[in-house]
Amino acid sequence: MESSSTPRVAVVVVAAGSGTRLGAGRPKAFVTLQGRTLLERSLHAVRGMRHTADAIVVAPADRVEDAGWLAERSLGRPATVVEGGATRQQSVAEGLAVIDPHVDVVLVHDAARALAPSSLFDAVVDAVLERGYGVVPGLPVSDTVKRIGDDGEVHETVDRSALAAVQTPQGFPREQLLTAYTLARSDETDDAGLVAAAGFRVDVVPGDAHAFKVTTPWDLRRAEELLSGTGAPRIGLGSDTHAVDTSAELWLAGLHWPGEPGLAGHSDGDAVAHAIVDALLSAAGLGDIGGVFGTGDPRFAGAHGEVFLAEARRRVEEAGFRIGNVAVQVIGNRPKLGPRRREAEDRLSSILGAPVSLGATTTDGLGFTGRGEGVTANATALLLA
Ligand code: CTP
Ligand code: MG
Repeated sequence: MESSSTPRVAVVVVAAGSGTRLGAGRPKAFVTLQGRTLLERSLHAVRGMRHTADAIVVAPADRVEDAGWLAERSLGRPATVVEGGATRQQSVAEGLAVIDPHVDVVLVHDAARALAPSSLFDAVVDAVLERGYGVVPGLPVSDTVKRIGDDGEVHETVDRSALAAVQTPQGFPREQLLTAYTLARSDETDDAGLVAAAGFRVDVVPGDAHAFKVTTPWDLRRAEELLSGTGAPRIGLGSDTHAVDTSAELWLAGLHWPGEPGLAGHSDGDAVAHAIVDALLSAAGLGDIGGVFGTGDPRFAGAHGEVFLAEARRRVEEAGFRIGNVAVQVIGNRPKLGPRRREAEDRLSSILGAPVSLGATTTDGLGFTGRGEGVTANATALLLA
């Protein structure tokens, strides 16, 4: 397999099935789960990957345009969308046909496995890079499995210790997957089947219970329930420091502090608001304040913290999250936060639509904060999926 310092990864998300067993009256990938389609939720997991991946969506013929804008919205960047075929295998082949030849690792994912977490995608990429051949996530089979006849008669109990229930994303070195599709004779329901039939080794790596396939109405209800409270939360961390500027007005934690020494900055210098924005963006995997707002952007010259906070909230919600809570600690001598703590917490909580708690400490006269030269704020944020 080609080795380069940053491996190039592509994810093919197959979404061209009709969803007969779900029976929702529309293609399964376009059925919504708490306001977002299964396709968007799958692409949202691609967006959250540590590895950056090209995204290719395979959609039903009459949904190609829809898929394009849903993909851009959930990925935060455009995806290549192609029309699917009559079987899953044909749909995957359509996706493979448009993969950039510089890609090292290809993942194939069922849009129907809408809750598969980003960490599973990354683990599959890592395993392919490490081993140089294909891997599929799988879980042990917990039920006793019987081999039966057409009439239902039990012939034998299958040794389940030798079985795995496999999921997607399945990952392969690009060339092995392309070769397997070129040689394909049979119609298989997964890619590992074809790759193994072509003579390449494929291993099972640990799967994730959330990567179950939404096939029936019961599966959809299970997915709804998982999302309604216990979807994997994400934490984020942010920090900001501004120098004291006695000639400026102080704006901190969304409040004006008359008579207090101000803070220098391109915007209003509200270190609390900026630390929170960084924590929110980091939790959502959306980068940081400099990358999103541009430190030199004239639109934000002198802007108050609430402008950044409201926009950060909009972005994390657009990415499919809601804010669980935020905690901030201010490190500095001034202002004394105690008397206005509740007011600041209420202000920040109302901007973010979630509880914000604020604390403060000094450094016993040590360092730049102790000498009164600057103020630092550290924030953590919890996002719920
Ligand atoms: N798929 C596809 N093209 C097909 C058939 C399936 O892209 N011709 C995709 C589906 O969209 C799904 C994945 O392959 O994301 C797994 O297939 P399955 O769960 O069987 O989905 P459907 O074929 O849509 O459902 P059903 O079999 O119930 O009709
Ligand atoms: Mg099917």
